[in-house]
Amino acid sequence: MADRIGFTVWFTGLSGAGKSTLAEALSERLKAIEAAHEILDGDVVRTNLSKGLGFSKEDRDTNIRRIGFVANLLTSHGVPVITAAISPYRAIRDEIRKLIGDDKFVEVHVHAPVEVLIERDTKGLYKKAIAGEIKEFTGISDPYEEPEDPHVKVHTHEQTIEESLDEIWKHLVERGLVKE
Ligand code: ADX
Repeated sequence: MADRIGFTVWFTGLSGAGKSTLAEALSERLKAIEAAHEILDGDVVRTNLSKGLGFSKEDRDTNIRRIGFVANLLTSHGVPVITAAISPYRAIRDEIRKLIGDDKFVEVHVHAPVEVLIERDTKGLYKKAIAGEIKEFTGISDPYEEPEDPHVKVHTHEQTIEESLDEIWKHLVERGLVKE
């Protein structure tokens, strides 16, 4: 298909904020318009491509560079890519944005206050991090550098998944990255 447009939707945000859920929901919408695409999820990538990496700044940067590398390959071949990784460091996110190109990169900040995430604690990791059983946990004992000017910022503690998704979709349509 000659008119296929590649792009990367880069979800960034704290653990449990809703990145993977939104990635799946966006994937469903792309399926509905028959747009072949790929999801690169931090949790999944860490079980294969990034197996053995931990959560030091160096390891996180390596993980993000790997995800960015694959996202760029696919995007440059006309494939829409959705990534879902905490990606806590601004400099690396900006590096990937430059690699992929501003016109094909969509940064989505998936935000919810850390107090809400501690309360939700879907994976039980915040409890362990607060107890000191998990070190270097983002938002508790490790930094998260918020995007300064994301293309879209969704507030998952105040919006439904559909509402957040609608905002992202609207942005993609406005930029001409998806055609309904
Ligand atoms: S990133 O920082 O390198 O972007 P990534 O998104 O791949 O992180 O992985 C984050 C997931 O690993 C979390 O959702 C959580 O399930 C798990 N995890 C385990 N230890 C940590 C930690 N110390 N900090 C953050 N997440 C952790």
